[in-house]
Amino acid sequence: MSGADLAIALADLVAIGLFIYGLHDLNSPATARRGNRLAMVGMFIALVSVLVQTLGVGWWAIAVGTIVGGVIGVYAALKVKMTAMPQMVALYNGAGGGAAALISTVEFYVSRGGTVRIDDVIAVSLVLSAIIGAVSFAGSIVAFLKLQEVMTGRPITYPGQQFVNALVALGILALAGWLVVTLGALPVWAFAALLVAALLLGVLFVLPIGGADMPVVISLLNSFTGLAVAITGFEINSTLLIICGALVGASGTLLTILMGRAMNRPLTNVLFGAFGAHGGMEVATGGGGPQQVRSASADDVAIMLAYAGKVVFVPGYGMAVAQAQHSVKALADQLEKRGVKVAYAIHPVAGRMPGHMNVLLAEANVPYNQLLDMDDVNPEFPTTDVALIIGANDVTNPAARNVPSSPIYGMPILDVDKAANVVVLKRSMRSGFAGIENPLYEMPNTSMLFGDAKASVDALTAAVKAL
Ligand code: TAP
Repeated sequence: MSGADLAIALADLVAIGLFIYGLHDLNSPATARRGNRLAMVGMFIALVSVLVQTLGVGWWAIAVGTIVGGVIGVYAALKVKMTAMPQMVALYNGAGGGAAALISTVEFYVSRGGTVRIDDVIAVSLVLSAIIGAVSFAGSIVAFLKLQEVMTGRPITYPGQQFVNALVALGILALAGWLVVTLGALPVWAFAALLVAALLLGVLFVLPIGGADMPVVISLLNSFTGLAVAITGFEINSTLLIICGALVGASGTLLTILMGRAMNRPLTNVLFGAFGAHGGMEVATGGGGPQQVRSASADDVAIMLAYAGKVVFVPGYGMAVAQAQHSVKALADQLEKRGVKVAYAIHPVAGRMPGHMNVLLAEANVPYNQLLDMDDVNPEFPTTDVALIIGANDVTNPAARNVPSSPIYGMPILDVDKAANVVVLKRSMRSGFAGIENPLYEMPNTSMLFGDAKASVDALTAAVKAL
């Protein structure tokens, strides 16, 4: 191995180490920023390593691509709103899958020129990364369009849907088998047909899934992209791609499993649309049935909060919609000034994307040690004076514990009903993402404070200040 090769191998090793360490740091909100920075440095080293290796072989095209991509990436990251983060992740994920499919296409052409003989390992890799990359690309674009509301977020279904999907999948398998058997000596039209069929499958796969299930699907597509990229690494003999792809694939798979578990839904349920079939959040049935609830005013709740010993804030999707995180922090500050002990209960799937509540509360400078995970905060509720629920619904629904017929039965929830008093801030009696009623609202220790979460929290802060 020459000195230059050794330097490149070492640089790649450092980059990979930084990615792994960066991922590890994402375990806790306290170290997540450092984790992102470490991964950024790793990515910079990896880019330089690739640029050096391509010196002389169209390097200027790669450099121009890096600069154009970098400028678009920085601009998009600066502009994107926190609530639009899932669609941005979908787009970036699609780009990764598309890149893997394009590399396979190029490799196919090179092998057809006869300059490079492909063996069966490369032929299998080429086919797999082309298919998985194209499915991930097309699926991610549909996910982006649904989340961005360019197209309807409702599940799109039609009779015979599974049959059509199976037919397309069979066509892909046949073409893929042909390519592997002929070791690349396939007519161009057949490879093009393989790519088109894989793109079609990506679209068909995501169409029937409801918009609100999209974070789980994006995470799954993310694991596909990682797999496609890792396989591409075998084609072009890049250890960096193999390891980075494996990291993305593994973390995407783990995140998909964890989200499914926290929602108490098997993946098949998400993909074949149990909530989706009812439209998920889109058809949150209004009215809420004949529930008997007690409504309170901001002044009543302010007194309850100001004279409490311990208050636990329970944020949910409604806090994100209302962008109430800064107001919540201001209320917490006001209560702490009066000697009230304050904490935040974080459910793993509160909101609509992984870490949604952590990100919003970190943006409002809430101290990390006040953010308590479900397992840590649940034992706290029996000694809590007020559980203040800010736009959360499903993650507090006791039916998940007590009603075996409930669609969310078995989903781990925050035990807010065990607090001495429960106050729910929401606009109406409408249901949350799961589209079901919440018996918590009828319990004798629960009061409802109706209104937009930000306006209600601001009113509470003003009322506490005035006491
Ligand atoms: P949800 O159960 O969806 O409830 C949110 C509540 O917020 C609604 O009932 C709504 O009631 C209220 N709300 C909306 N806008 C508001 C506003 N401006 N001011 C005040 N309240 C407002 O939320 P959750 O408890 O956070 O649960 C999350 C759900 O999403 C779970 O079912 C979970 O499985 C699912 N999910 C999560 C993820 C991830 S990864 N986090 C991904 C996919 C699905 P009103 O309309 O009456 O105001």
